[in-house]
Amino acid sequence: MRMYDIILKKRNGQELSTEEINFFIENYTKGNIPDYQASALTMAIYFQKMNKRETADLTLAMAHSGDVLDLSSIKGIKVDKHSTGGVGDTTTLVLGPMVASLGIPVAKMSGRGLGHTGGTIDKLESFKGFSVEMSEEKFVENVNKIKLVVGGQTGNLAPADKKLYALRDVTATVDNVSLIASSIMSKKIAAGADCIVLDVKVGEGAFMKNKEEAFELAEEMVEIGKKVNRTTVAIISDMDQPLGFSVGNALEVKEAIDTLNGSGPQDLYELCLTLGSHMVVLAQKAKDMKEARKMLIHAVESGKALEKLKEFVAAQGGDPSYVDNTEKFSKAEFIIPVNSDREGFVTKIHAENIGLIAMELGAGRATKDDIIDLAVGVVLNKKRGDKVTEGEPLAYVHANSMEKAEKAVKDILANYVIGSEYKENIPLIYGIVK
Ligand code: URA
Ligand code: CA
Repeated sequence: MRMYDIILKKRNGQELSTEEINFFIENYTKGNIPDYQASALTMAIYFQKMNKRETADLTLAMAHSGDVLDLSSIKGIKVDKHSTGGVGDTTTLVLGPMVASLGIPVAKMSGRGLGHTGGTIDKLESFKGFSVEMSEEKFVENVNKIKLVVGGQTGNLAPADKKLYALRDVTATVDNVSLIASSIMSKKIAAGADCIVLDVKVGEGAFMKNKEEAFELAEEMVEIGKKVNRTTVAIISDMDQPLGFSVGNALEVKEAIDTLNGSGPQDLYELCLTLGSHMVVLAQKAKDMKEARKMLIHAVESGKALEKLKEFVAAQGGDPSYVDNTEKFSKAEFIIPVNSDREGFVTKIHAENIGLIAMELGAGRATKDDIIDLAVGVVLNKKRGDKVTEGEPLAYVHANSMEKAEKAVKDILANYVIGSEYKENIPLIYGIVK
């Protein structure tokens, strides 16, 4: 078999066989196939697409390109949650403690941020000492003991995806349904959970820009989950504006703590309750969504979820006193308001650009090796549909350089659309696929 023939076949719009897909993944992982051939193939896939069978084969090949975690020594039904990536998406930090505080094991594999989207691992490192590096034994021990663990895609977990995702990121081949579905599901399968709840984002700040594509992606992933006996549920949720108010690492952790204290942004809390309820039902701890929701609200109101966050942070080497005293998180030197230059209603906030502005302030990485500044970012003060008067702050820039702050203020102003009225009715949650 030759890689050249596989590229040619896909370029001409033909279906690849299971053997051809396995050959590609096996040899690309081993380093026998160069990046230029792999990127030619992903570009051919981007234009010619893959059918469901090819996508499932690609997923399984990548899932088995390295270790597949065996979580059978963890008691109970293990649930995992994954977002397709958005701006200011802090759900894991809220949802994880909420669900785990009900005694449900949450074993989560997370990533770092790249481009305009943030990553859970970077956010968690805002807690002094926090680490996701641990052995498989420690991973299992932590889930058994405190029900919540967040690990990195470290070691040898779906290495084919790790390589391929990095390649796609720099060759404009991320936003293809088959490639995203196989990338996410291969990691989820390798990470070993029994049930998977997916948050498929749609809108300008997401990879899927329209509803049709988002539903297609959700259906594809749910079908793959079924094939490998992992019950999978997907929620399609809005990413046409950032989630919550904060975008930036320590800022988002503070927002998560606020939410667990019952005083966070409404959209973030509601999304967590919806995703969380599905996790609770899949783990068979509640008979229906209504009961699950009640349990989760109680976990927040009783303070149990917040306690769980502290326990979890401490178990991974972090300083849990930050949870009670958020003043301890590193703070930006400059906090500058972005004042509206007119009166009206916020009709749109360009989410992807807000993510990029936060990245330029230092909250994210432009390349894999960049070092991020945990303190900086953007805190929105007005969201879609809000009324604003002239001179009123639309947002606040948190920066460690005045020059960067001034640029960010200008850029944010350019990415808020203010109209004379707001009529649209974009839902937070578009639907569910299961
Ligand atoms: N997240 C992933 O893990 N993979 C993708 O391809 C896109 C988002
Ligand atoms: Ca947020």
